[in-house]
Amino acid sequence: MLVALIAGTGTLVLANTALAGSGGLLPVSSHSPNAHTISNLYVVVLIFSGCVFVAIEAALVLIVLRYRRGRRPAAVEGPEIHGSTRLELFAAVVPAVLVAALVAVVFFQLSGITNAPAASAAAETTVTVEGHQFYWLFRYPNGAVSIGTLIVPADEVVHENVVAPRDDVSHSWWVPGLGGAVEAVPGRTNHAWFKALAGTYSSSCSDLCSSDHARMAATIDVVAPAAYERFIDARAAAPATLAVGQQEYQHACATCHTLNTPYLGPALADNPQLTEVSELSGILRQGTGTMPAVGSDWSNAQIEALVKYTTKLVNSQPTGATSGSTG
Ligand code: CUA
Repeated sequence: MLVALIAGTGTLVLANTALAGSGGLLPVSSHSPNAHTISNLYVVVLIFSGCVFVAIEAALVLIVLRYRRGRRPAAVEGPEIHGSTRLELFAAVVPAVLVAALVAVVFFQLSGITNAPAASAAAETTVTVEGHQFYWLFRYPNGAVSIGTLIVPADEVVHENVVAPRDDVSHSWWVPGLGGAVEAVPGRTNHAWFKALAGTYSSSCSDLCSSDHARMAATIDVVAPAAYERFIDARAAAPATLAVGQQEYQHACATCHTLNTPYLGPALADNPQLTEVSELSGILRQGTGTMPAVGSDWSNAQIEALVKYTTKLVNSQPTGATSGSTG
């Protein structure tokens, strides 16, 4: 009776949470086969451990009621009860069997999480995901690069090589809707994959990687394959446009700097280095003071794009702006 009551309450709580969507006990809704498997395993483990919890709490309550003092005076000792082989065996064997069953279920599902489904070369893409302090950089097969937003084709297996530059720190690439977290470790290449329908998904860094860890988010735009091809072709053909510079500024610079107010780094508006490719490339590639080498592996075109954008930004400042470079 009591067990049924507790189990019933638990079911109601779970059902309520499930209806509430991603805000409660359940993972965010999944949009890739590996993420489905993770979500399903989560539910299996949750129900399994929920049942164990209910059974143990019910036994506890029954024992407390059954062996309570009752009318016996407080000063009188209760009866001494010595070992019960059956009970001890039960307490050792049952948990072992339960844990073994759980391990078996998880191992059985593991290949569906780690192994991408086989796909023809035409139906798969490989991108490199680079974790930097404090932004994500993406490299595409044709050499195109984007920062902060990963564009990938819909309904294709997308393989991700997850890395971090040698002079950076460890980050963790996690797109909850598209699979589990994968470490981005300097000097190592880890692998992840997903296969999703068109849509927008968000990622966060799940390793505490210093001051701006919490702002290290990225967007994953899953688009029609033709749109994906158009994007990477255009980006590879013109890697130093103002739009590229704006993306770099917003994701790599603006995480720590604002134009007019010192934040983690100094305010930028009056900084003459902002408009000089030679000055800025030195700072980006080597870092300076407490600023990490945020652009340690950027191409010249990427730096030119940033300077184009920062020059425009500085020149559009109403007051306090430097004359900057012309051109
Ligand atoms: Cu990168 Cu936390």
